[in-house]
Formats: sequence, structure tokens, C-alpha cells
Amino acid sequence: MLILCVKFVAALAVGLASLYAGLLAALTTQFIQRHAVYLHAFQMTGDKDLNVPEMFGFLRGQVTPFNIHSSDGTPLHSWHILPIGLYRKHQANLMEGPTGLAHDVTSTPGFNLLRDDPEALLAIHFHGAGGNMGSGYRIPNYRALTAGNPDKIHVLTFDYRGFGKSPGSPTENDIIQDAISVVDWALHVAKIPPFRILIFGQSLGTAVNMAVAQHYSTLNEPIIFAGHIMIAPFVDVPTLVTTYKIAGTIPVLSPVAQYPMLFNFLKSHIKEDWSTKTRIANYVRANEASAHQYRITLIHAEDDYDIPWHHTPTLFWHAANATSSHEIGQDDVAEWKSNEGQDIGHAGHEAHWRTHHGVISEYLLKYGLHDVVMGAPIVTLAAMRIFDGANVSSG
Ligand SMILES: *[C@@H]1O[C@H](CO)[C@@H](O)[C@H](O)[C@H]1NC(C)=O
Repeated sequence: MLILCVKFVAALAVGLASLYAGLLAALTTQFIQRHAVYLHAFQMTGDKDLNVPEMFGFLRGQVTPFNIHSSDGTPLHSWHILPIGLYRKHQANLMEGPTGLAHDVTSTPGFNLLRDDPEALLAIHFHGAGGNMGSGYRIPNYRALTAGNPDKIHVLTFDYRGFGKSPGSPTENDIIQDAISVVDWALHVAKIPPFRILIFGQSLGTAVNMAVAQHYSTLNEPIIFAGHIMIAPFVDVPTLVTTYKIAGTIPVLSPVAQYPMLFNFLKSHIKEDWSTKTRIANYVRANEASAHQYRITLIHAEDDYDIPWHHTPTLFWHAANATSSHEIGQDDVAEWKSNEGQDIGHAGHEAHWRTHHGVISEYLLKYGLHDVVMGAPIVTLAAMRIFDGANVSSG
């Protein structure tokens, strides 16, 4: 009996070990990696139809669903969301407008309210992994972004290819290309100048955000937006997987991390590394060199158990270091922060690194988890500060 039991336990152990080995092996394949990073197979909005925004709590006529075409022609399903004050002024007209997917967005009443107002402001939204533009805390997030100026701040959000109703499957390059196509639409179709645009990203969307920032700031004729807000960013994917925990409790790679060779082998198989630490530094350096005004805001809650908050001070350091031609150590930045930053008790800690051209802000919140924070007033405040700093009226 005892022997049988021991045998069973041994078999179980072998079984679990090979299951784990199988999991690790699977993680080295591109297919599995992409599904693990992007989680696009999980829709999380049940039976709701993204072409019927009322199902997500919007008012009739407040949101226009339409497609923006990516550079290779892939249709990216998008929403143009009107801020509530503006909606109220035009409610009668908007309620009578067409519903469902707009085939020509430029002829919709909502679009005209955006394009024809020389003071309209636009928050372009890059969502995180999993779900679609209608899921989770993304809806309260849109409200928080517009709340600081409910007559002026519109939201443009969309699903990357492979998410929601956008066909295809995501890769790092394609997602970045999709995001650039959406920003190009805002610049060239809606004709909103960059100083009236802020770019928001959460989680995976923060990595998209800095890729886009780097792209436009390093063009021959750089385009610099009013500012970039990043909630729960990460340094890069290799660093993320070493700290990632399934459901916040099971560290996937910690057992392997004790074996540096195996660990490095696995890390070297990560094909898409989404290096925000490199891109944020490139973006800052480009703007310091070209003397463009820029603004980056990092927000992270200390109780975020998906992406640990310490990714944010690391990114802050990379950004701060890029403002100087001399190396600035991580310890120096930490010390500067404890002197110059502001402790706000239960709210957390904030710090603003200023140069002649830019402001790099960091808000470390005590509470907010990974996504609840998206609907919080700190997001509204960050958007207001960015649009204040953009000196909108004088252009
Ligand atoms: C910090 O900046 C210096 C000088 O600009 C650069 O040589 C160095 O690689 C940067 N350090 C990091 C960690 O990026």
C-alpha cells in the first residue's frame, strides 16, 4: 500500500515536471508566445456587439464605430467617442444620426464636431492585452480621459489586428504599424495638429505608446504630440516574464531563474521584446536634441500584481538618464526623487523631472491595481496637465 502510494506520488511528480517542461518548451514557440503576450483570444465582452456602443453604456449617438485601414489594408475597428458636454449640446441631432458601423466616418455628425472645432482635443487610446476596446476598465478610462474638459476632449480608440472585430493576428511590428495608421488618420483625415493630441496606453498599450512616440520623433520632420500617458508600463518583455505571476500568485519562471543557463536560453527565445526602456530613451534624446517640448507621464499602482510597480522607476531612470550627456545612475535618480519628489501619504508619491524642453512625471500610487486605476481622477489630472502644457490656444 505504502509502496503504491510512493509510486503514485513519484509518478505525479514526474508528470507535473514534464508538464512544466512542456509549458516552458511551448513558451519558446512564436505561436504560444504571441498568445501569452497578447491574450487576443480572450474577448471578455460576451455577446455584446462593438457596433452597438449603447451595449457598453454609451448614449445613443455618442460613439461612432468605423474602420481605419492599417498600412497593409487591414481594417482596424475603431470608436470615436464624444465628450459628454459636447454631446449634450448636440444631443438632438446626434440621436437622429445613423447607428451601427459608419462606412464613411467623415460624413457623420460626430466626426464633424471633431474636425471643425479648432480647439478640439484628442486622446488616442492604445489598450492593453486581452479583450477589446469595450472590455473591463477601458470604458471608465475613456470617461476619465475626457472628464477634465468635457466640451473638448474626444477619444479615439481601436482594436489592434487580431483583437475585437479587427481581423488578423498580432505581432510587435504589425501592432506598431496599426497604431501609427490610427495616429496618421487623426493627423491627416481628422486634421488634428499634434499639439492637440495626447496618446494614452495601459499595460501592453504603454509599449505601443513609446514605439509610436519614437517613430514620430525620429522622422526627418519630427512630429511631437502634446504628451504621452502610460499606466502600468513594463521595461521590456524579457524583464516582464521574469517578474510575471499568473493571477498574481504563481511565478511562472521563478523555478527556472535559479538556472541561469536555462533561463537565458528561454529569454533568448523571446522574439518580440517590446523594449520600452530603449524607446523611451530614444524619444527623450530625440526631443532634447531637436529642442521640441515633450511630456511623458508614468502612472503605476503599488498593488498592481500583473506588472510589478518597480518597472516604472526603472523606466523613469532610463528617461531621466537620456536627458543628459553624462550617465546618471539609478541610485542618483532614486536619491533625487526622495529629495525633490512629493510624498502624498495614502495617495502615494509623485516626482517631475524637468529639463528646458521636457517634463517626465512619475506617479506611484498606493492603490489602483493593474486596471482599476484607469478610471481614477489621476488620469483626468494627467490629461489636463498635458493639455495645459500644450499651450493650446496659441498653437
Ligand atoms: C545613460 O546615458 C549615457 C549617456 O547619455 C549612456 O551612455 C548610457 O548608456 C545610458 N545608460 C543607460 C542605462 O541607458
